[in-house]
Amino acid sequence: MRVLFATPEIAPWVKSGGLGDVSRALPAALLAAGADPRVLIPYYPALRRAFPNAVPLASLHGFGGDYAAARLCEAVLPEGLKLWCIDCPPYYDRAGNAYQDDTGRDFADNAVRFGLLSRVAALLASAQSPMPWRPQVLHGNDWPCGLAPAFAHYDGGRHAAMLMAVHNLAFQGNFDLELLAPLGLPQEARAAEGVEYFGQLSFLKAGLQFARHIVTVSPRYAQELLSEEFGYGLAGLLRWRSADLTGILNGIDTALWNPQTDPLIAAPYGAENLEHKAANTRALRADLGLLPEPKVPLLGMVGRLTEQKGVDLVASLAEDIVQLPAQLVVLGEGDQGIEAALRELATRYAGRIAVQVGFDETLAHRIEAGADIFLMPSRFEPCGLNQMYSMHYGTPPVVRAVGGLADTVVDWNQATRAAGSATGFTFAAADASDLLPALRRAVALWQDRPAWQELMRNGMRRDFGWAPVARRYLELYARLAVN
Ligand code: ADP
Ligand code: GLC
Repeated sequence: MRVLFATPEIAPWVKSGGLGDVSRALPAALLAAGADPRVLIPYYPALRRAFPNAVPLASLHGFGGDYAAARLCEAVLPEGLKLWCIDCPPYYDRAGNAYQDDTGRDFADNAVRFGLLSRVAALLASAQSPMPWRPQVLHGNDWPCGLAPAFAHYDGGRHAAMLMAVHNLAFQGNFDLELLAPLGLPQEARAAEGVEYFGQLSFLKAGLQFARHIVTVSPRYAQELLSEEFGYGLAGLLRWRSADLTGILNGIDTALWNPQTDPLIAAPYGAENLEHKAANTRALRADLGLLPEPKVPLLGMVGRLTEQKGVDLVASLAEDIVQLPAQLVVLGEGDQGIEAALRELATRYAGRIAVQVGFDETLAHRIEAGADIFLMPSRFEPCGLNQMYSMHYGTPPVVRAVGGLADTVVDWNQATRAAGSATGFTFAAADASDLLPALRRAVALWQDRPAWQELMRNGMRRDFGWAPVARRYLELYARLAVN
């Protein structure tokens, strides 16, 4: 199965969130399962530094629009996975992350930057490709790849089956409709049956409209998407396409995220020697200036600081958390108002609440290992990886029962305890008054050491690996593939 996996991020080099992790792990798992994947990605500075000797393959032109000159080059990862990098210095060779400059502002030319990614993906998937290797399926991820199915549609002719993968409906890539021509789309696309969406040109809407199939990252989110609450204005379109919509739960990379071998944590541990986890808690407290109070549980949170993640619910409970008593550590970056509110709490509750603003892979691992309880009170969560990392690290999560969180975390109660299936705590409404009782339940159970160890071990035993997920994708590709 030849699959072109187009993505704006790939961990560890360019990562803003879970899409980076998925883009590193899923193609590798497809390769390990015997498929023939290639990853298509902009040649960002971090990739240029990691793979300075990428081999030029072809120049990229002849597709209309107003794009800067670009070429395709190939880098090969240690396991043999091929990265096809789009080398276009005026678009991609700049400081910042994939989407934003160093001050957190979106690049003004994101439409053409990701228009080019979509355009090249569609070209490589077509009979006009300059490359002899042709994919049977184009697996495009999130809005930056959303125009690829639209290009294929308006180009006509034979092309690979277009699969649109939705990791987050809230990011849509909506731009001025005047960009149609510079992007190389025909004027007829300026329509509700085209790429128009509430008076704008929408990359994500284009992908949902024209893809042969849509996949999202958990079965629950695949259902939720169809409702106005979670559909972000696209529920109607998604309902129309619901026969072509599948939810496949992500996996986690258990080579990178393994408490027994993780080089980033203070002390390795596993289900057989849970007592060694405490050394990670001690180290984390010392690193962050938290009081050494072993009888008080440490709550941890890692993630983008946006409305989605519900960190404001946690912030509003700061006083209750300290009174429980519990300590709290939050690592994240994003919304400046949320960052400022968290910093203020860290000052007010010095020694009990620690906040690190920024992107810090090492600290993310140390929180997964060192926290006693992990928090994910998300308003919506297409899949979520952190709750799976935390279960794998014996750090039971408290989560809102939405999306992938509902699909992966089993609430602790009498029945699930008896069945040995409980892995954490869930609550229903995105509301502090629902979150607090769940936190209280978690902290109370933490005091009951044998019961808590049962819960930890249940989570650590769960298999969240990518191999079965890759098989599900291969089945889906086989149904769609164009030979
Ligand atoms: P999302 O993709 O919505 O951000 P996920 O839970 O799927 O949420 O994935 C988030 C990924 O990004 C995880 O690997 C998490 O550890 C990482 N991450 C998020 N914020 C930070 C941060 N500030 N520092 C380090 N890692 C982070
Ligand atoms: C998105 C979602 C997250 C998901 C990740 C990877 O960013 O917000 O829930 O885990 O993509 O699919």
